[in-house]
Amino acid sequence: MTERLAATPAGITTAARILREGGLVAFGTETVYGLGGDATQPAAVARIFEAKNRPRFNPLISHFASADAAFTQVQACPLAQKLAAAFWPGPLTLVLPRAPGSTVSDLAADGLSSLAVRVPHGEAVLALLRAVGRPVAAPSANRSGRISPSDASHVLEELTGRIDAVLDTGPCAVGLESTVLDLTDPDRPCLLRPGGVPVEALETLCGPIARPETEADAAPLSPGRMLSHYAPSLPVRLNATSVGPREGLLAFGPAPLPGAAVTWNLSPTGSLEEAAARLFSGLRFLDSQQPTFDLTGLAVQPIPPQGLGLAIQDRLNRAAAPRPAEPDLP
Ligand code: TXA
Ligand code: MG
Repeated sequence: MTERLAATPAGITTAARILREGGLVAFGTETVYGLGGDATQPAAVARIFEAKNRPRFNPLISHFASADAAFTQVQACPLAQKLAAAFWPGPLTLVLPRAPGSTVSDLAADGLSSLAVRVPHGEAVLALLRAVGRPVAAPSANRSGRISPSDASHVLEELTGRIDAVLDTGPCAVGLESTVLDLTDPDRPCLLRPGGVPVEALETLCGPIARPETEADAAPLSPGRMLSHYAPSLPVRLNATSVGPREGLLAFGPAPLPGAAVTWNLSPTGSLEEAAARLFSGLRFLDSQQPTFDLTGLAVQPIPPQGLGLAIQDRLNRAAAPRPAEPDLP
């Protein structure tokens, strides 16, 4: 059952409790309704992808009640601070280097070393974010491939039964997603997605902003292809049906393959949601075991191609893809 909560103090308290307990609550922002989950809990983030039926993982925007809260999770350059002062709360998302102490899960950040943060506009959503007191990951609250919802009833049409609640904050004023600006290189601000704040308005503060105009220009920026994307340093072998003594095994299900040097089971019970939540920590763990076991590679047991299994496969395919050659050192 999906509860429809009124945007009253009681409704907001309930929504915050559900989020802190790892549940999913959709809520209106000034742009569109977001499908919120506690960004620090990988299991909650996995449920977001499951509810949206996303065939692949995507880095999600973390939402905060204030710029101060946002800037505990990222390294904010002076330009970011200036833009935040001018446009937050509002439809602007800033992509910045993740802070060393960031508590946002790798699944929410899709293993990137950067993080997208924003402070949305709206009394109810800000009260909710304050009450949660943690970063809230929220993609648009529609099923994958459908249009973004700008009203609580749209959310219910799309997601009834798949999320715990929707906080009915009324229709969204902007109805178009936030502008996403990459400031990971503060000397070269780059527009990743046009949205609620016009680029020209940003340029009055930033100077010229790079705008990748063609698909080809944008491709290197699309998160799945970025070099900063986390990939294990060891080669990855997919759909393994046996495993060697110098391989680390990423297992799935009740029958992990025997014979691996070291094993991380994504989900002994075969739950794809649990597997998604444990994917990044598993890759990092096995990679970290290389010196201990003199590992030559990682083997991955087959993952069923349904539901979140597709997103997990997509991520693993990218982890297993040939790496770009290291530049030759003189
Ligand atoms: O208005 C909005 O931004 C809405 C409301 C709910 O806040 N949210 C939203 O989220 O549109 P989503 O997940 O549908 O879009 C997030 C966008 C994607 O284009 C994603 O690739 C980009 O932000 N993004 C997130 N993290 C990123 C990162 N670290 N680097 C580059 N792009 C990132
Ligand atoms: Mg979307």
